[in-house]
Amino acid sequence: MRTLITNIKELIQVRETPLKKVSGAAMAILPTIENAYLLIEDNIIADFGKMENLPTISPEKTIDAAGKVVLPAWCDSHTHIVYAGNRVQEFVDRINGLSYEEIANRGGGILNSAKKLNETSEEEIYNQSKLRLEEVMSQGTGAVEIKSGYGLTVEGELKMLRVIKKLKENYPVEIKATFLGAHAFPTEFKENHAGYIDVIINEMLPKIDEENLADYIDAFLETGYFSIEETEKIMEAGKKYGLTAKIHVNQFTAINGIEACVKHNALSVDHLEIVTDEDIEILKDSETMPVALPSCSYFISIPYTPARKMIQAGLPIALASDFNPGTTPSGNMNFVVATACIKMKMTPEEAINAATINGAYAIGISETHGSITKGKRANLIITKPITSYYQMPYAFGTNLIDEVIIEGKLI
Ligand code: NIG
Ligand code: FE
Repeated sequence: MRTLITNIKELIQVRETPLKKVSGAAMAILPTIENAYLLIEDNIIADFGKMENLPTISPEKTIDAAGKVVLPAWCDSHTHIVYAGNRVQEFVDRINGLSYEEIANRGGGILNSAKKLNETSEEEIYNQSKLRLEEVMSQGTGAVEIKSGYGLTVEGELKMLRVIKKLKENYPVEIKATFLGAHAFPTEFKENHAGYIDVIINEMLPKIDEENLADYIDAFLETGYFSIEETEKIMEAGKKYGLTAKIHVNQFTAINGIEACVKHNALSVDHLEIVTDEDIEILKDSETMPVALPSCSYFISIPYTPARKMIQAGLPIALASDFNPGTTPSGNMNFVVATACIKMKMTPEEAINAATINGAYAIGISETHGSITKGKRANLIITKPITSYYQMPYAFGTNLIDEVIIEGKLI
């Protein structure tokens, strides 16, 4: 099946460096072709270029993109899309003055979601989660990482990962699964951290491996959650099963966690609302992608990742949604990109690189996703007629997406 897109006003290519990510000053560069065509063969980008060089082809389908912008679909490298119910009451409690920490200390927060998840059937969790997946696909997300971490019991974690597996099987979007058993200590292990880590390593991991349910491993490395030493144990155990680490770190406090993650070759370190100069030094020349989650900062009113300082230091940045019931009940990557521009002072070019090729790197799929490159997957956003791609972050509350193509098909 061949689909030809013609008369594209601006074709945003996004180009990866040889390292398959874009860092520092290169983040300001966004290769763009004006008045372009793009040819899709089955699920692959077969060709693209200037309209004046359009070869003679006879496609089965033609899409006229006059006045429109075409760019790679978003690669959202950090979500918790699979969950049960919601946490609207905590939202209102925060408006009335309680902090995220105070709510968690009262048994709310992650433990609240874990209780709901363990009380809900696998089928019901699937039905709730697929609606969120369908929503983010319609908002231009073509690849997504989904974490477990609201089970916190052997059965609960397996249930979540099985739901993610089922989503993988039933939807064309590229999905990577991350095991986040180390998201919080269940109440019964509050005074027995070693006991819960033993459950994670000796009960959960072997079962997950048996059913091949995870691609990555995560932990919430934070004051009051998992310490550096505890997170190191989790990363080492994951490595034995071939699971590379992607770690929640530096959300509320900087406790040298990034150093431990880089030492263990984490693929990404995520959140980074609080970042020290030492953290930046450690990330330089590492293979670890720093991931910022601006919708989380927005929703729970915490600092934004200091993107300017990090880019200035030569670091890459990826942008992701963190879609979850507690700190970010939204998976809209258009809002993430706009918020990165508005609040983190990333330029539109930097933000688009961060939400496409660098997001793809942070889930290990930058060879096949995240840019308009011949041979890569045909995962594309076609906008409505707009003046330029600047309009996307500028008109932050307007849906400017006309069509989304995933694996070569309009969704
Ligand atoms: O990424 N920080 C840890 N985990 C999630 C939020 C968890 C929750 O509140 O449900 C996050 O923000
Ligand atoms: Fe998260």
